[in-house]
Amino acid sequence: MKGIILAAGKGTRLYPVTMPVCKPLVPVYDKPLIYYPLTVLMDAGIDDILVITPPDDTKPFVNLLGDGSRFGIKISYLEQKVQRGIADAFIIGADFIGSDDVALALGDNIFYGPSFRKKLRQARSMSAGGAAIFGYYVPDPRAFGVVEFDSNNKAISIEEKPKHPKSNYIVPGLYFYDNEVVEIAKTIGPSARGELEITSVNNEYLKMNKLNVIALDDSFSWFDAGNADSLYKAAGEVRAAQRSGKMIGCPEEASFRNHWIDIDQLTRLAQDMKSSAYGGYLEGIIEEN
Ligand code: G1P
Repeated sequence: MKGIILAAGKGTRLYPVTMPVCKPLVPVYDKPLIYYPLTVLMDAGIDDILVITPPDDTKPFVNLLGDGSRFGIKISYLEQKVQRGIADAFIIGADFIGSDDVALALGDNIFYGPSFRKKLRQARSMSAGGAAIFGYYVPDPRAFGVVEFDSNNKAISIEEKPKHPKSNYIVPGLYFYDNEVVEIAKTIGPSARGELEITSVNNEYLKMNKLNVIALDDSFSWFDAGNADSLYKAAGEVRAAQRSGKMIGCPEEASFRNHWIDIDQLTRLAQDMKSSAYGGYLEGIIEEN
């Protein structure tokens, strides 16, 4: 399975912060925002990842992530020249996806929970021959994709930003698909806001009765970090959650747990960052092992 991180948003809602550096690279507490979706894909067992960046802005991403070898994975980059919507990721990434299945993570979504790795593996297997998305309960879902589903995890309806939501479960920015998604993305048309909506893609899977929904209960946290308030809140939540001693969004740790890098490589990475708390955390993992 391949992975895509859609990190093409300039983040105009965060101006002036995102004038010199685009949104996925701004810090959320102790690490850049993009580390969170990157770690999620790695925790799903994906080691070949395409990062879709804003036009003429790939270099800072390369400075941070390189070709991925530091994390024992492969990372490549493509630009989204025009903001055409989330589903455009499958058109931009068609050659990269080839004949594989694919997971898409939005560059500004943060997830955590005690058994999230297990949920990710579950999503991966449930998307074989179809699609798997998550459902996350919120009191007011009107600003999101909203899904209604039955006790067999099958979607009943899915709508983008409905005025009268049929459920309280929003669809967070993490999606697992079989290879058909590439063809589906090419056939859907733009929505009223002029975008190729991910919800339109999901609707096609729904029509085929192939849209599986995994509910995230209240032991999970999800948030997107698109404006100053949500970014500030996200930083606080990450900081509070990490008091348990377990870091959220640490690609080096995900890689080590997947046996993609060994203890020597982890030691080198920790050395490079030894004066930061992040480097100290990596040293802690080395000592435990
Ligand atoms: C997008 C999707 C929406 C999803 C949300 C998650 O919304 O269209 O279905 O629930 O991401 O962050 P947007 O950020 O484009 O408003």
